[in-house]
Amino acid sequence: MTQEIAVLSAKPDMAVESPPVRKVFVKTYGCQMNVYDSDRMTDALAKDGYVSTDVMEDADLVLLNTCHIREKAAEKVYSALGRLRDLKKKKAGEGREMMIGVAGCVAQAEGDEILRRAPAVDLVIGPQTYHRLPEALKRVKRGERVLETDYAIEDKFEHLPAPDKAKTRARGVTAFLTVQEGCDKFCTFCVVPYTRGSEVSRPVAQIVAEAQKLVDAGVREITLLGQNVNAWHGVGADGEQWGLGELLNRLTRIEGLARLRYTTSHPRDMDDSLINAHRDLPQLMPYLHLPIQSGSNRILKAMNRRHTTAEYIALIARIKAARPDLALSGDFIVGFPGETDEDFEDTLRLVETVGYAQAFSFKYSTRPGTPGAELGDQVPEDVKAKRLERLQALLLEQQNAFAQACIGKTIDLLLEKPGRMPGQLIGRSPWLQSVNVDAKSSQIGDIVSVRITGAGPNSLFAEVVS
Ligand code: 5AD
Ligand code: SF4
Repeated sequence: MTQEIAVLSAKPDMAVESPPVRKVFVKTYGCQMNVYDSDRMTDALAKDGYVSTDVMEDADLVLLNTCHIREKAAEKVYSALGRLRDLKKKKAGEGREMMIGVAGCVAQAEGDEILRRAPAVDLVIGPQTYHRLPEALKRVKRGERVLETDYAIEDKFEHLPAPDKAKTRARGVTAFLTVQEGCDKFCTFCVVPYTRGSEVSRPVAQIVAEAQKLVDAGVREITLLGQNVNAWHGVGADGEQWGLGELLNRLTRIEGLARLRYTTSHPRDMDDSLINAHRDLPQLMPYLHLPIQSGSNRILKAMNRRHTTAEYIALIARIKAARPDLALSGDFIVGFPGETDEDFEDTLRLVETVGYAQAFSFKYSTRPGTPGAELGDQVPEDVKAKRLERLQALLLEQQNAFAQACIGKTIDLLLEKPGRMPGQLIGRSPWLQSVNVDAKSSQIGDIVSVRITGAGPNSLFAEVVS
């Protein structure tokens, strides 16, 4: 709702020329890139008079931006579509029209099936064609059911509008910026190479221009996004191929951009220039999401990760030597086909050795079309569930220990948004923790020095150090 008000009040003088106001409700599932994509789609629709609404019943267009990474994520989409079908019918009975669109990775992977299984859906659009969304909606208006899942030859980023100032401001002082999309790694469990396609890196000039726009709108922290972000390689101003380390260096020259992060990285793509960026750039936050997925070399091989646990541990030692206060986060999959009790014990040992500030862990989910789906020796559900429980208990213990170790430390906090109590704000620590602190709302966007005084289950407490 606030977003809508901000958009409408930002350009009152344009109201006369603007197309009639229509409302779009966007529901985002899955990863941060989907959050970024949802914002880009909302921006693209704004030209046709669409404003965002938080109330689904009020929407002229409901767009589900979906995730296909695990079976459960995809199932959620079909149950949401069932509810939407009923809402569409109810609204039609009241003489109000509602279009339903499915975007994202389920759209890409199962477009035909969605149209077949869910007759209420008007539009299916894959991640590579978002710039064609306004045109696709016009086709829907003409009575077509649209399927837009071909990989576009044109660069969608060149056609999508850059982040709008008023909307960016309403979205807050931190922002995502996609620099790389797709993946060529083909881990045997993963659908990403099939849904997001092969690796594409955006050029430096495009990224710098977008980052500058975000900063001009008040953004203080940017997280560079990519499925394989540290494989990013783009042509720089000098005509040479740059790596992510060079890109980060360039972005630190943007005045007012206080903090940089990037996610998600693959261990094989952590090159020297990126490690040195952690040493040299104070703006680069000392926090790295570096998934290994399993602590067993046998399973890593079966997953086609193309590195060993020893190489991973040695790599972390190098990164920590460059930036000693760096904390790690990771992803783990339990119950990959053929995973034995010993393999799983190796994962627990690896977690003990590395020590994570935070980590995500999942039961292996068979994804049709991936090599993993063809493997025999699937692990029974109850075994997966027990392993996941043990792993999550250990990871939670480490997360709590990391939070406890912060108590008494003085750290920089980026004040982000109002807290739950009046007079309180929530900020982000360098290690991505939420921190509650007494501060005025006029301070949102400031970086203040605070002393951590306590740790709750999901956030820290702090007081401002004067
Ligand atoms: N089953 C379970 N987890 C998966 N992930 C990716 N594919 C699967 C799958 N088939 C997890 C990985 C990845 C994270 C984004 O999702 O851990 O790093
Ligand atoms: Fe999937 Fe990441 Fe492996 Fe690429 S590197 S296939 S996105 S898990």
